[in-house]
Amino acid sequence: MTDTEPQTANGKVLWHFTMSVDGFVAGPGHSMDWMTGTSRPGLVEEYVETTGAVIGGRDGWDATPPGVRPYGGAWEGALFVLTHHPEDARTEEGVTFLDCDVADAVQIAKEAAGGKNVEIFSPSIGRQLLELGLIDEIDLHIAPVLLGDGIRLYDNPGGVPIRLQPDQVVNVRFRPLDATNRLL
Ligand SMILES: NC(=O)c1ccc[n+]([C@@H]2O[C@H](COP(=O)([O-])OP(=O)(O)OC[C@H]3O[C@@H](n4cnc5c(N)ncnc54)[C@H](OP(=O)(O)O)[C@@H]3O)[C@@H](O)[C@H]2O)c1
Repeated sequence: MTDTEPQTANGKVLWHFTMSVDGFVAGPGHSMDWMTGTSRPGLVEEYVETTGAVIGGRDGWDATPPGVRPYGGAWEGALFVLTHHPEDARTEEGVTFLDCDVADAVQIAKEAAGGKNVEIFSPSIGRQLLELGLIDEIDLHIAPVLLGDGIRLYDNPGGVPIRLQPDQVVNVRFRPLDATNRLL
């Protein structure tokens, strides 16, 4: 079962990621090259249209080259970066650094989003919001790759399982390719 209904813009808080089959949203050293070529037609346009504001974390911001913006620059909205030390952050136009409670950050982003969705581009912030009941949807695109290392969507050792709706398994089948993209 897959959900390919187009995303709607109605003020939701989305924890939105492309994720590897083994649950990583970034590779070692925040690498993102594994995502190249895995998107489907129209996906970027769909989220550019429905997203009003984005909240990210300081590590992701520090790993982002200057001038690089969400959705390859196609999206123009308010970007908020949560950090405990905004004073030493690299500043850019359209980016606001927040040192506040995560719930307050969501409220600020919602006001900036003008009724569209707020996207959370950070595993650690998403986990904090999930605990507070402030995530409306976990919206994932599962890329056909195994990374084995990197930053996990949900890292919470010792935590209890979080049940999700729909409450049934999602069935996917993949076959391994060799280095030249041929079936092994
Ligand atoms: N696959 C995808 O679709 C996709 C999309 C977007 C981003 N990403 C990747 O996701 C990764 C995000 O990395 P990450 O989750 O490890 O780090 P992160 O969330 O970007 O950064 C964590 C840092 O954010 C700050 N922070 C978090 N919660 C805070 C709070 N409540 N108050 C104040 N500051 C807070 C802290 O920084 P300080 O303590 O230093 O202040 C914390 O160390 C990046 O590699 C990014 O490229 C992937």
